[in-house]
Amino acid sequence: MIAPLGPDDAGDAVALWTEAGLTRPWNDATGDFLRAVDGASSVVLGVREDGELLGSAMVGHDGHRGWVYYLAVADGARGRGLGKQLMQAAEAWLVERGLPKIQFMVRSDNTAVLDFYDHLGYAKQDCLVLGRRLD
Ligand SMILES: CC(C)(COP(=O)(O)OP(=O)(O)OC[C@H]1O[C@@H](n2cnc3c(N)ncnc32)[C@H](O)[C@@H]1OP(=O)(O)O)[C@@H](O)C(=O)NCCC(=O)NCCS
Repeated sequence: MIAPLGPDDAGDAVALWTEAGLTRPWNDATGDFLRAVDGASSVVLGVREDGELLGSAMVGHDGHRGWVYYLAVADGARGRGLGKQLMQAAEAWLVERGLPKIQFMVRSDNTAVLDFYDHLGYAKQDCLVLGRRLD
């Protein structure tokens, strides 16, 4: 069953994200996790089986759009529908809060995942993402 994770799940979640290749040395994944579980407009959804965290997705909104980060399913649990269920749970979490749109960024070297999202009905948006670090 997919359910919100809490602060005690930080270690398992970051291990899962790392195994899935989603962490970067310049990002504080544990800090991201703890801010998300603590925030009023964010959540980290997870699915456990026999105590093991098999999948998770960080979801949040900025009042205008819903965002998904760190969608990951453990290597040995892929292809069983967990990724799709996590995205559906993320959508439901945002719909419950009245958000009209869900979106996310895909790193340009992660083309392997694009067919998965296409399969779920997600399409490339006509915009560029600009940014700079604040730290
Ligand atoms: C992307 C990821 C979360 C998918 O999780 P998963 O549990 O294996 O996916 P599912 O089993 O839920 O697949 C859902 C559907 O997409 C399809 N699908 C999955 N991967 C696919 C792919 N690479 N290409 C095409 N279809 C794919 C499945 O066949 C399934 O189809 P169905 O609904 O008709 O049965 C997983 O591969 C992962 O953790 N990847 C590494 C981390 C990552 O890149 N995250 C995304 C960051 S943007």
